[in-house]
Amino acid sequence: MVLTHVVEAVEEGSEAAAAVFASRYVQDPVPRYELGERSISKDAAYQIVHDELLLDSSPRLNLASFVTTWMEPECDRLILEAINKNYADMDEYPNRCVNIIARLFNAPVGAGEKAVGVGTVGSSEAIMLAGLAFKRRWQNRRKAAGKPHDKPNIVTGANVQVCWEKFARYFEVELKEVKLTEGCYVMDPVKAVEMVDENTICVAAILGSTLTGEFEDVKRLNDLLAAKNKRTGWDTPIHVDAASGGFIAPFLYPELEWDFRLPLVKSINVSGHKYGLVYAGVGWVIWRNKEDLPEELIFHINYLGADQPTVVHFVIWQVHFCAGSSQIIAQYYQFLRLGFEGYKNVMKNCMESARTLREGLEKTGRFTIISKEEGVPLVAFTFKDGAGALAFRLSAGLRRYGWIVPAYTMPVALEHMTVLRVVVREDFGRPLAERFLSHVRMALDEMDLAAKAPVPKVKLTIELGPARTAGEEASVRVVKSEAVPVRKSVPLVAGKTKGVC
Ligand SMILES: Cc1ncc(COP(=O)(O)O)c(C=O)c1O
Repeated sequence: MVLTHVVEAVEEGSEAAAAVFASRYVQDPVPRYELGERSISKDAAYQIVHDELLLDSSPRLNLASFVTTWMEPECDRLILEAINKNYADMDEYPNRCVNIIARLFNAPVGAGEKAVGVGTVGSSEAIMLAGLAFKRRWQNRRKAAGKPHDKPNIVTGANVQVCWEKFARYFEVELKEVKLTEGCYVMDPVKAVEMVDENTICVAAILGSTLTGEFEDVKRLNDLLAAKNKRTGWDTPIHVDAASGGFIAPFLYPELEWDFRLPLVKSINVSGHKYGLVYAGVGWVIWRNKEDLPEELIFHINYLGADQPTVVHFVIWQVHFCAGSSQIIAQYYQFLRLGFEGYKNVMKNCMESARTLREGLEKTGRFTIISKEEGVPLVAFTFKDGAGALAFRLSAGLRRYGWIVPAYTMPVALEHMTVLRVVVREDFGRPLAERFLSHVRMALDEMDLAAKAPVPKVKLTIELGPARTAGEEASVRVVKSEAVPVRKSVPLVAGKTKGVC
């Protein structure tokens, strides 16, 4: 009997051909910079993109970023549920969040009154809007008084985040920076107020310096500036860049006056995606009063579903228009879920982890901690011997264990200082802090060992020939280059060398 087994040819596009790793789409080069001619299966497309993403570092081990990397699964679910909703079609949730934040920052909003503010994609956009509002208000005042209005400036510390430089360049405002000094890594309010002139649209103070986490003294700035305003008749206001400190100070330092309790503070920005505890893509700017936001920056539109064209349907003053709304919903979830109590607990835990980290780093005897205990939960430190190269080497050494820790030089006047910074987020608890510290110790040992390793030797055989140019005495040609093996010893027991490799 003859048994015939028919093997069907596997056709392109058939179920079998689409088996993910057997598919030619996973084997063939992927079109990167132009649209491929043909479609591919959804499994293959998923696998290709998924596999490339494997190369990204683990966000939770990225200690460089302030941005939230963990949320509760219930919130992840809500985010997915809202993934197809456009921010431009929402007004209720952003509005709720603006009101909650404004009250948290002690804005003078009466019961039943609506606060003035807006959701943005982050503090950078928020700062563009706040800065523009200050510029317009200053220009309008100057025009009304018949005075020149073409040379606006803004006073900040040299420690400002790059978004302030962007604002200055994009909106043609001179950035006057107060230089930092040895031991003082934030804006000195006395020097800032000295720099203020009649063209100053505002002084920007930072609640939680990006470089060291330290809070600037907004109360002192307010008092000094109020005195100068009185003396000169100017009306210079304050903006607080509370990108990271805005969700720390109200919970951990409720007595600290940095917000709308101070009369000259006219606007505040905060990143929802930092200690607001939401994934990347949300920020907020709040104005003290409606008068602080010039009317000409507000657009009224009526084409997003309003059935009566004359009815003002939607009010916008963001730069962006369409955007995802998941982060706004996630922000509202966090406010609802955590309340004041929950936020306070999270921030207290972060401070505890920062303390564990600070103490562990100090114990190595190698570092000077330059961040303060009060401020944003982060630890900024330098090598005691001040050598910048060591900081970059440690950063690279930690990368091999999976951690991302930035090393950076300080701004102008302090460029000789190289700082390492670990941002402590909600999901960086004590066990991770302890693992991190053990990796710091191991990386330091590796660096010390490498520093002791003998310099590699090379044996060169050269041939001297006649000079080829008038300037040469003789020409040299390398005939052979050989690495000379060196006996490298590794100290296994302190004071003794036993192993050889
Ligand atoms: C003080 C400060 N301002 C502004 C920003 C920009 O914030 P965002 O990333 O939300 O645009 C940062 C970011 O780290 C910051 O630290």
